Amino acid sequence: MPGEIITLQAGQCGNQIGQQFWQQICAEHGISLDGEFDASLYSANNNNSSNSPFYNENNILIDDRKNIFFYESDNNRYTPRSILIDLEPRVLSTIQNKLPNLFNPKNYYSAKNGSGAGNNWLSGFNYSYQHNEELLDVINKEIDSCDNFEGFKLIHSVAGGTGSGLGSYCLESLNDNFPKKLINTYSIFPSNSGNNSSDVVVQPYNTLLTLKRLIEFSDSTILMDNESLTKISIEIFNENEFLKQSISFNEINQLISTIISNLTNSIRFPNYMYNSLTSIYSNLIPLPNLHFLIPSYYPFTIDYVDNVKKIRKNSIYEILLELLNKDNKLLQISNSNGGNYLSMLSFLNCSSKQNDIQRAILKIQERVSFVPWATSNINLLYTKKSPYLKYNRNSKRNINNSDNNSGSNNGRNKPLNMNSNNDVSGLMLSNETNIVVLFKKILKNFDKLIKRNAFLENYKKGAGSLFSEGSSGNNELIQEFNDSKESVQNLIDAYTACDSTSYLADLDSDDERNGAVVEEFEHENNNPGGSTQM
Ligand code: GTP
Ligand code: MG
Repeated sequence: MPGEIITLQAGQCGNQIGQQFWQQICAEHGISLDGEFDASLYSANNNNSSNSPFYNENNILIDDRKNIFFYESDNNRYTPRSILIDLEPRVLSTIQNKLPNLFNPKNYYSAKNGSGAGNNWLSGFNYSYQHNEELLDVINKEIDSCDNFEGFKLIHSVAGGTGSGLGSYCLESLNDNFPKKLINTYSIFPSNSGNNSSDVVVQPYNTLLTLKRLIEFSDSTILMDNESLTKISIEIFNENEFLKQSISFNEINQLISTIISNLTNSIRFPNYMYNSLTSIYSNLIPLPNLHFLIPSYYPFTIDYVDNVKKIRKNSIYEILLELLNKDNKLLQISNSNGGNYLSMLSFLNCSSKQNDIQRAILKIQERVSFVPWATSNINLLYTKKSPYLKYNRNSKRNINNSDNNSGSNNGRNKPLNMNSNNDVSGLMLSNETNIVVLFKKILKNFDKLIKRNAFLENYKKGAGSLFSEGSSGNNELIQEFNDSKESVQNLIDAYTACDSTSYLADLDSDDERNGAVVEEFEHENNNPGGSTQM
C-alpha cells in the first residue's frame, strides 16, 4: 500500500510550481480548486456502463488514491498535503487570493519580518536554523493526518535565498528527524550552459552550497533547468500564432508540473508495480550518492488550443527514441562527451500491444550506451489516464471539465495535456554519467565569482552569525565553501568512476560502507518484481 507524500514548496519558484502542480492533480482526481470532489465528472467523461469513479473507459477497475496527496476532511472535501513556505509574503498571498479554499491556512509559513532572503543562501539557511521548531511543528501536524506516511518532496530553486538556503536546512532537519522517510527533491537550476548569465548574480554561491545538501540529505533529486525548460516551451508555445508572446514561468511551470504528475501517476492510480516512490527510485539509484535524475518528456501538447501544430501519432519506438533525444530533456547537457546511462525508467501512457513494446525495447536497446557494469535494462512503467478528464479522440482537444484554472490568460494556464488522445506519450527518468558536466560547470562558475571576491560581505555576515557569533565570518565562509566544493568534487569522481570497466571490482575493494547502504536500501524497497525489462 503506497504511503502518503507531504510536499514542501519553498520560495517563489517552489510555490509557483507547486501551485501549478496542485491545479493539475486536482483536475486529475476530480477535485475542484475549492477542494470539493465531484464524482459526476467521472460519469460525464466516461461512456462505460458503470457510474463508479473506480472504473476506466475500458471498464477496468482502477484505484483512485487521492489520499496519497490529499487528506479528506468532512463532506468530500480534500486538502493538499502541502506546506507553503516563503520568507516574503508576496507569492503566498497571491496563491491564497487565487485559491482561497484549497490549502490548509495553517500550512502557509512565512517569515515574521517578511523580508525574504534577498537571494542570500545564508539568510535562508539561518532563518530556518533559528526557526526550525516552528517549521517542524507544522510538518509534524501534517504527518499526524497520515496513516502510512512515506516521505517528503521538496520543490525549490537552487539559485535564490529561500528555496536554496531554507530548503537546504530543511533537508538537513528532515534527515535528522525522519531518517527512515524518503526525501525527494525537484530542484530547479537556472541554466546549465555556463555561458548564460543567470538572473541571480550570486547564484553560483547559492547553487554550490545547496548542492552539498542535496548530495548529503536527499534520497533522489530530479534536476531541471530554466534554460532547457525555456527552449522546450518556445518549441511548444511559440509555434502557435495565437500564443506568440514571450515565454513566462507560467509555461515553464506547466512542463514541470506535467513531469511531477506523470512521475506520481502510478502511485495515485496504482499499478501492480511501481506503486510507491521508493520502488520507482530504487530501480534508478544504484548507490545512495548517485541519486541525480534527469527527466525527458515527449510529446508535450496543448490540446485546448484549436490550431496547434498537429502532432502525428507516434509509435512506441519513436516515443522512446524521442525520450532519449537531448532536446527533450528538461536539463540539457551541452558540450558533453557522451557518457553512459546507469539506469533509466520510462513511464508510458499507451495502449500498444505487448509484442510491439518488446520489439521497440529491443531496437532501442541497441542505441543506448549503459555503463559497462550495469545490466542494460530499459524499464517500462505504464501510466493510467485520469478517469475525470475528458479525452476527445477526434478533435485533439482535452477538456478539463472541472475548468478549475481560474485566472487563465488565453487558456495558457490550463494544464498541458499529458495523457491525451495521442496513442503514446512518455516520461523518462535517467541516471547518467553525463551529469558531471553540470557539476563541473557549477564548480567553474563558483571559482569565477569567488576569484573576484564578488558580493561576499552579506555571506560573511551570515556565516559569522551562524557559526561563531561576533566573528567576521570570513574563515567560516571559506570553510563552508571548501567543504561544499569537496562534496561536489567527490560526486563528480563517483559518477566518473562509473564509466570504468573495473568499477565493481574497485567498489568491492574499497567501499564496504556503500555496500551496506545498498543492502539497506534494497531491503526497504518494496521491489515491484514484475517490471518490463529486457
Ligand atoms: P529569495 O527571494 O531570495 O528569498 O529566495 P526564493 O527561493 O524565493 O528565490 P526564487 O525561487 O525566486 O529563486 C530564484 C531563481 O528561481 C531564479 O533563477 C529564477 O529564475 C527562478 N524562478 C523564480 N520563480 C520561478 C518559477 O515560478 N518557475 C521557475 N521554473 N523558476 C523560477
Ligand atoms: Mg523569493
